[in-house]
Amino acid sequence: MPRTKTLSADFYHSSSVFDQEIKNIFKKEWLWVARSDELSEPGSFLTTEIIEYPIIVLRDHSDNLRAYHNVCRHRAAKVVSSKSGVCKHMICPYHGWKYNLNGQLMDTPKFFANDDFDESRHSLFDILIEERFGLIFINFNKKSQSLKNWLGGFDDVVKQHFQENLVHHNELRFDVHANWKAYVDNYQEGYHIPIVHPQLNRDVLWENYTLKNNDQFSIHSVPERGNSEQPGSFGWHFPNFIFNIYGRGIVFQRIEPIKPKWCRVVYNLFRPSAVKEDDFENKEGKYQLEVSIEDQKLIPEIQQNLQAGIYNEGPLSSKYETGVGFFHDLYLNKLNLEKAK
Ligand code: FES
Ligand SMILES: [Fe+2]
Repeated sequence: MPRTKTLSADFYHSSSVFDQEIKNIFKKEWLWVARSDELSEPGSFLTTEIIEYPIIVLRDHSDNLRAYHNVCRHRAAKVVSSKSGVCKHMICPYHGWKYNLNGQLMDTPKFFANDDFDESRHSLFDILIEERFGLIFINFNKKSQSLKNWLGGFDDVVKQHFQENLVHHNELRFDVHANWKAYVDNYQEGYHIPIVHPQLNRDVLWENYTLKNNDQFSIHSVPERGNSEQPGSFGWHFPNFIFNIYGRGIVFQRIEPIKPKWCRVVYNLFRPSAVKEDDFENKEGKYQLEVSIEDQKLIPEIQQNLQAGIYNEGPLSSKYETGVGFFHDLYLNKLNLEKAK
């Protein structure tokens, strides 16, 4: 039985809780950071920041994906400053140290090294990387289980909807003035659909909404009305990886923590290659944007109230909000703050 009330409000704005989340959750779980199609040829790279780390993700000359912390082993400059491109090697912009795509230090121009310097011990710091469903995931914990094990049964559910002929349609990014958990909470319940999402509600039989919580993920299902082309199934995997079935395509979504009171929501829409861009944009694209904007109007206001100190916790529906209780239980176990339960 999942818990029947929410986490207490201080979990949504405390800096010490946020630090603990980064350490005990986001540095240990698999995190979706990029798409495979962004690294299409040997030497393609991109740089990004995930939680507090600048990282480099690239495809090496043997076609393997690799990820590194974007920090030079000399005096900590960012080795790669461009957002993306194709390269043969990486040259640090500070003093010119050169690394190959395997992360090994190849050259330290005019360095006049001391006797104790060993070039072979100054490779870039590497990070675990794997791909699935055309998405690139990384994990800061070198001892982590594989992505496949981590996804578990979630992989089978996505696979039922995933088609190999999908092409990337677009990416939507929103910085939202709310703790990442406030956004996940909203995703994890269908209770608000009739009021907040009127169009979505016209397309689905909300009364028949069901939710299955398994292992580390939840699958929401809501049958579509007779002549609707819309959802569907949608699902969330702890802590922040989401898929939505949208008409003819699929949307992958992530909710990144930025600060205790800010998160970034990233959507990537994929459409079947036979469906024209404009056609998809006019239907599924607009639909997704509309639903996201409807949620985003509400969530920062909830955040404000969670910080205000009047409200502390609330009760959860046994039909529509078991996903929220399930998330909070999982979260507390991972956070390792038993006493906070
Ligand atoms: S910090 Fe990179 S070469 Fe000096
Ligand atoms: Fe919503």
